[in-house]
Amino acid sequence: MKKRFLLQTLALAALAASTSGVMAQEKFKIGLVLPMTGQQATTGRQIEAAARLYMAQHGDTVAGKKIELIVKDDTSLPDQTRRLAQELIVNDKVNVLAGMGITPSAMAVAPLATQSKTPLVVMAAATSSITEASPYIVRTSFTLPQASVALADWAPKNGIKKVVTLVSDYGPGIDAEKFFKERLTFNGGQVIEQLRVPLRNPDFAPFLQKVRDAKPDALFVFVPSGAGAAVMKQFLERGMDKAGIKLIGTGDVTDDDQLNDMGDGALGVVTSHHYSAAHPSALNKKFVESFSAANKGLRPNFMAVGGYDGMRVIYEALRATKGQGGGEALLGAMKGQIFESPRGKMFIDAQTRDVVQDIYLRKVEKKDGQLFNVEFDVIKDVKDPGKVKFLLFVCFFLSLGEGGGGGQPCQRPQP
Ligand code: DHB
Repeated sequence: MKKRFLLQTLALAALAASTSGVMAQEKFKIGLVLPMTGQQATTGRQIEAAARLYMAQHGDTVAGKKIELIVKDDTSLPDQTRRLAQELIVNDKVNVLAGMGITPSAMAVAPLATQSKTPLVVMAAATSSITEASPYIVRTSFTLPQASVALADWAPKNGIKKVVTLVSDYGPGIDAEKFFKERLTFNGGQVIEQLRVPLRNPDFAPFLQKVRDAKPDALFVFVPSGAGAAVMKQFLERGMDKAGIKLIGTGDVTDDDQLNDMGDGALGVVTSHHYSAAHPSALNKKFVESFSAANKGLRPNFMAVGGYDGMRVIYEALRATKGQGGGEALLGAMKGQIFESPRGKMFIDAQTRDVVQDIYLRKVEKKDGQLFNVEFDVIKDVKDPGKVKFLLFVCFFLSLGEGGGGGQPCQRPQP
């Protein structure tokens, strides 16, 4: 009797141990590091909401694994991002890292992704060079060169020749400034002054005064998501529009998260970007409605779509590897994904691991009493112009060393 009891207990213990082993094994952990508080909090709020929406719509089990989303708040301080990512890798043993609200955060985590061979899905940060910081990075947001070049093609055809640029003084701002200027100049326009404002607690007033004095046709602006409303307010308060200066920029400035509260002064502002909540597709309509219903009427912005598509990329990689792959296999299955996003068609270029997508020109208009970025033109399948330049640069130096040639990526296709 005693022996039977002992055997039963042992059998139960073994079963419990094996089930918990299986359960632990069957989890697939995504470490989502985002700014949930502080200056970039809207980015975190939008991306987390979008990731949860994706899971609610697509289930939380993929290829037999239960998806666990672990959200950590880095307050947009890169030292915190690095520390949290390290904990997620070492203690939580996450399968994938994701999020990255600003460029310095993505850059801080890149070496950890490489060392631990953990795929890092960048859902927000948008400096061109991020994807070169680690071969484990895949991006589902956009790049500033992608957005800026489109606007620099549009501007001179629409009476804008002399421009002052005003950008946040860090990676994405410097990309925006450089690529906008180069392309505008190429198109016969001119950047007459370049202004940079600090990322933290910016005061736009003294810079806007300089813009007024320079009397350009337009002011081109890049500020990160969440800062656009302050720029718009001060631009209007100073009567810059009345003084004949147009406000143009990448779509970060007429961010859907804030646009509707900017007031009618924002009407007519032209921007270029990859996502508008007003994008007229059935998929986007459904996305906006479901997002809004799940989040007390909140309108999704371009950050949300980066998070939503990032989850898609992770889910499909897990499915394609049948739940069996490690970091390397998952990364391989992320590369080359092509699908319809709420933004339109998008593609993860297998070579650069960066997003190739349509860039839209949009104008702020009122629809049903609300302000929207209404798309009026599109440039199809835009690759990051920063990458094209980078490759040419590498090829040039390789060719110096090798007396021409420059290796396989640099060779012209044979006729
Ligand atoms: C970045 C952050 C933003 O909020 C944005 O709109 C674009 C770029 C960045 O830090 O890379």
